[in-house]
Amino acid sequence: MNRLILALDVYEKERALRIARETKEFLWGIKVNWPLIIGAGLRIITELKQVTGLPIIADLKLADIPNTHRLIAKKVFEVGADYLITHGFVGKDSVKAVMELGETIIVVEMSHPGAKEFIQPVTDRLIELANELEPFGVIAPATRPERVRCIRKKLHKSIKILSPGVGAQGGKVGEVLKAGADYIIVGRSIYNAENPGDAAKNIWGEINANAKG
Ligand code: XMP
Repeated sequence: MNRLILALDVYEKERALRIARETKEFLWGIKVNWPLIIGAGLRIITELKQVTGLPIIADLKLADIPNTHRLIAKKVFEVGADYLITHGFVGKDSVKAVMELGETIIVVEMSHPGAKEFIQPVTDRLIELANELEPFGVIAPATRPERVRCIRKKLHKSIKILSPGVGAQGGKVGEVLKAGADYIIVGRSIYNAENPGDAAKNIWGEINANAKG
């Protein structure tokens, strides 16, 4: 099973499409965040799907009222996104508004140091929310494999863990897979590499060497 997700955080449409073409054979999917949407427009999601045929995750980290979530999710799924990432701390009603329109991924913890201030103290409650709503997956930090392990223990088995923070932020593929992550999200270590295809292939190889299934 392929477990690598490319975080395609560049601004330029042509660069994004080129990197996507060069790396696609080593990817499970592509994650599109605000930088690319701001730089290339929402339709980049449609184009990336056409060029690669891969699942596209829209990482908008929504944090708003249910009606606004609905308005945003409608357009994002319409252009072809397969998954949409929302924050969970905004509450069940806001998360459900996204889930009613398409496959959803909930942020339960973040990978940067500041995540310890506000998100980490409520991670257990966010896991409870995920267990109740059963989204496709949750986001958990590759920079703290011990937290991924703890989240995996509490999370329903059917819910996937997608883990950003490998490479530029210091997370290690082997450690985070061992801790229970299902998918590894990598951005800068691939798109900033001299040869993104080779960089993706190397990480893909490392994932395969460490993954159980
Ligand atoms: P890098 O360049 O650090 O990119 O490999 C990582 C990508 O993942 C996003 N990211 C996160 N998203 N929770 C999230 O929901 C997190 O803890 C987290 N850490 C990184 C980041 O925006 C970039 O697209």
